[in-house]
Amino acid sequence: MPSLFTPFALKDVTLRNRIVVSPMCQYSADDGVINDWHAVHLAGLARGGAALVIAEATAVSPEGRITLGCAGIWTDAQGDAWSRAVAGIKAAGAIAGIQIGHAGRKASANRPWEGDDHIAANDARGWETIAPSAVAFGANLPKVPRAMTIADIERVKGDFVAAAQRARTAGFEWLELHFAHGYLAQSFHSTWSNKREDAYGGDFEGRAKFLLETLAAVRKVWRENLPLAARFGVTEFDGSDDLEAGIEMVRRFKAAGLDIIDVSVGFSTPTAKIPWGPAFMAPVAERIRGEVGIPATTSWFISEPAQANALIADDKVDLVSLGRPLLANPHWPYRAAIELGVEKAAWTLPAPYAHWLERYRT
Ligand SMILES: Cc1cc2nc3c(=O)[nH]c(=O)nc-3n(C[C@H](O)[C@H](O)[C@H](O)COP(=O)(O)O)c2cc1C
Repeated sequence: MPSLFTPFALKDVTLRNRIVVSPMCQYSADDGVINDWHAVHLAGLARGGAALVIAEATAVSPEGRITLGCAGIWTDAQGDAWSRAVAGIKAAGAIAGIQIGHAGRKASANRPWEGDDHIAANDARGWETIAPSAVAFGANLPKVPRAMTIADIERVKGDFVAAAQRARTAGFEWLELHFAHGYLAQSFHSTWSNKREDAYGGDFEGRAKFLLETLAAVRKVWRENLPLAARFGVTEFDGSDDLEAGIEMVRRFKAAGLDIIDVSVGFSTPTAKIPWGPAFMAPVAERIRGEVGIPATTSWFISEPAQANALIADDKVDLVSLGRPLLANPHWPYRAAIELGVEKAAWTLPAPYAHWLERYRT
């Protein structure tokens, strides 16, 4: 069996293969409540054969949404809607995961296909953004956030905890903290955005504090036997030597109870020079996995079955996370199984499909 199609166990969860649906915002919720679109989208991806479907960045509070269409998990009604989506994912044989986060200074934006920029200051649909410091991201996101007070910090940590509890109630078995991509948590870590002079800023310890406290608080309520993941931007590609600090942060995450790291990019400044290219984050993920000794996954331009399989076979990462290739073809895992020569490749799909495709391969 090619390594990509071997099972992977973490805590009490066993994934049927190594293919993960990377979280992808749909910008299509109503007041944070997901709807039939999300249910179809997520169940469709599960049906395609991925082992783990991680639902999109889901806001822990209204002001934590990137756009007005972002999903939320700060009300029971939102939690109920999620539980229906979870049922769909499970019916297709995948494990259901969710990414929870707060957009920080990147919040109050227009949907990508409606501008991908901050909602104009004179537009009543926009809202006050919060961040470690009153420093804007820049470029398409020029809005200056309000620097968070200690009370804000305490409230947002509590929002993460409440979100984790709702995620569990909704039936999710895998929780990913969104600590990446220039959103609130990442912006506490980044010197681009954290200019605080109190306990939550300054040196590495100060800039780590919000992330570590949030993680520890969530770990207390998220069942010990279920995987807790974090997506973290370990480096900015901004010309600085920030990777060592990124690795040290992952070491601290592990000590605070993290089970697996999703290695990503910081996206804290529009001036970064990101070396886009096939699987460009894989060597970084491999290094972190080795140095920290924690299971790891990564995404970004992993699109070919042989490439994905080699990342697992060569012991570089534990799981491969795919985004756009799965939007293009939710049945990518089935195609990959055929390409990699899996005997009875159709059985990567649910039985009602597999039986027919095995007999009459298309
Ligand atoms: C439509 C879309 C929405 C995304 N939303 C999220 C998100 O909610 N959370 C996140 O961490 N990354 C998000 N991403 C990034 C993906 O998870 C993934 O890392 C990225 O697309 C690179 O993987 P790929 O090259 O396989 O697409 C999004 C990407 C796309 C294309």
